[in-house]
Amino acid sequence: MTDQTITRIEGRLKVTGSAVFAGETPADGLLHGALVEASIASGRVIDVDLSAARQVAGFVDAISYADAEALKPSAVTALIRERTVHFRGQPVVLVVAASPAAARAAARAVRVSYETAAAVTSIDAALEKAYEPAMASRYPARSKRGDAQAALQAAHLVVRNRYETAVNNHHPMEPHAVVCFWSGDKVTVHTCTQAVFGTRAAIAHAFDMPADDIRVVSRFLGGGFGCKGPLWWPWMMLAMLASQRSRCPVRLELTRGQLFTLVGRRQQTVQDLALGFDADGRLSAIDHHVTAQTSTHGEFADSTAAVSRYLYACPNVTTSHQLVRTNEPQPIPMRAPGTAPGTFALESAMDEAAIALGIDPIELRLRNFADHDQDANAPWTSNSLRECYRAGTERFGWSRRPAIGSARDGLWRIGWGMATTCYPARRQGSRARLHLAADGSLLVQCGTQDMGSGTYTALGQMAADALGLPIAHVSVELGDTELPEGPFSGGSQVTSSIAPAVERATAAMKAKLCALVIGDQASPLAGLAADTLEFGDGMIRSRNGNAGERLEALLARGAPDGLDSEGGAEAPKVWDITGMGFGAIFVEVGVDPDLGEIRIRRVTAAFAAGRIVNPLLARSQYIGGLIGGIGMALHEKTVTDRASGAIVGANFADYLVPVHADMPAFDIVMVDEQDPHLPGGIKGIGMLGTGGIQAAIANAIFHATGKRVRRLPIRIEDLIS
Ligand code: MOS
Repeated sequence: MTDQTITRIEGRLKVTGSAVFAGETPADGLLHGALVEASIASGRVIDVDLSAARQVAGFVDAISYADAEALKPSAVTALIRERTVHFRGQPVVLVVAASPAAARAAARAVRVSYETAAAVTSIDAALEKAYEPAMASRYPARSKRGDAQAALQAAHLVVRNRYETAVNNHHPMEPHAVVCFWSGDKVTVHTCTQAVFGTRAAIAHAFDMPADDIRVVSRFLGGGFGCKGPLWWPWMMLAMLASQRSRCPVRLELTRGQLFTLVGRRQQTVQDLALGFDADGRLSAIDHHVTAQTSTHGEFADSTAAVSRYLYACPNVTTSHQLVRTNEPQPIPMRAPGTAPGTFALESAMDEAAIALGIDPIELRLRNFADHDQDANAPWTSNSLRECYRAGTERFGWSRRPAIGSARDGLWRIGWGMATTCYPARRQGSRARLHLAADGSLLVQCGTQDMGSGTYTALGQMAADALGLPIAHVSVELGDTELPEGPFSGGSQVTSSIAPAVERATAAMKAKLCALVIGDQASPLAGLAADTLEFGDGMIRSRNGNAGERLEALLARGAPDGLDSEGGAEAPKVWDITGMGFGAIFVEVGVDPDLGEIRIRRVTAAFAAGRIVNPLLARSQYIGGLIGGIGMALHEKTVTDRASGAIVGANFADYLVPVHADMPAFDIVMVDEQDPHLPGGIKGIGMLGTGGIQAAIANAIFHATGKRVRRLPIRIEDLIS
């Protein structure tokens, strides 16, 4: 039975400062990099003048497009191989110097001359050039089921509105950093990455070298949220080029300001959504069209409207996504990509419909429950959304919901709102390797990485459980391409991906132990059948009697060097059944009627995500996700200066993120769910917590004030006008 109280096994390393993050990697003779950023939003670099920079004490070298031309062209290397400037802040030169201060001083002394072109710095400025991409994330950009237009014409009620979400930036606590060094033709790269193997493949392609000559290491990450991926690679590669030429280790760390421009963003969305209902509150039509920003050099579309295709039962659904290219930074997935902005629109509109129809918001959702995935026309592997509504309703006290605009606490107006969240459960291929030492300690190795979400612990715990070992006897190694290949850390799918690999590796280990014990005449278990043996409390035992012995004793006699095993599982090629996690989020807000201040007072969130490997980690992930959602709903907004293309206030004084003082009490309910179809019965958690709450907050604000705000983030000025 799983110990329900296991805390992070790497926690001590982190709180004592002994965990070595990429940017802290020690190296002798380390050189330091600083990026020179373009001061125009669109155009071409004419010339780079290094004469003044060379005079700065400590200057060593400078790398620019001329040097990066040595790299093979690809989407990853495009920005560093050419002179074209696509957005303001795009790196033009990497300066390396003997100290970080010298690098910054030399970078400031670099003179770049440009040929400036007209820049497009807003969606509105180029709306007529909007185009439809082939894909919105993993979904086709366009979908049509039935005839939504005809159904809207015939509907008893139509709720038709525009919803908007702002640009957000990921901002993990740890900024991106690399320390790299070459030894002959081989390179070691300690870098912040959500994918050590993906990073290695990108380097192998760009530098045209065998993957075996590249080692990518990422032992610990201070968060990722989607931005420690491909958009970081070109800047990391500039440091690698500098190291290759100087034959010295080179370190580059991005500034907080550069996290606004260089590693991706949540794209801005404008969503036109119409819902049609019959008189009983059954959805007859959903018509959801999204316009979003992408850059002039890359394409990315969140699957924002995808949620409208499957969350509710509806015979007539049309959705589309279009993109507008602007001279702004490139978007990339961020914290519940697609479902966070998509559920804001859909779940706000459902609330508006509930009010117009005079039906309780939960009852309206129950009436439209989807008993299968209507988009994929496939059954759910499991779906406990109704149990989530029930559990959340009870814990929050929803039945005591006051009338709209009626509740007060002193001066504060109080409002209650709710919304649904969901996130697809997916899985990648993974391998895992085990070494059981003669002293009974277990080493578990997998080349995935821990973003901070708890992968060390979840992996160690799954292996410990399978072999009946106490977690204290288990150590885990992650984040290194020398380990067996594991999944990238994204899409809330690491635990589900490594589970089958651990299951097979532990099964192989158990088979070896059984063979050993059965053939060992000195063992009390000698000669027994393997299927009568079981593992627990560090022992191997007979199921049919009291005989048993400690693994250490067995190994000391039969395998003094310990035992090894490995196992893996491929990702499924075809999904003919839909894995989806669900949740119901309930929020109480207070709004100051004079000042417009919004306080979130309490949140109850009921989630069903299959088997929970570690409830403490899961709770922490859910709360982290909800906090990210609160940031999106009330705080975070990245603003472009339309004249210059610069990010306005690219710092943590101006870009608001929720802090401890903004935090409500979180009541997290984990609904018991057994999923018979997904391996290990595991669904993802992080993203699930990040969606839904945006609409729940907007719905609660309406309930408190009677004001419907359809644009995120919701600000004071939206409530006092
Ligand atoms: Mo995530 S947005 O897949 O790190």
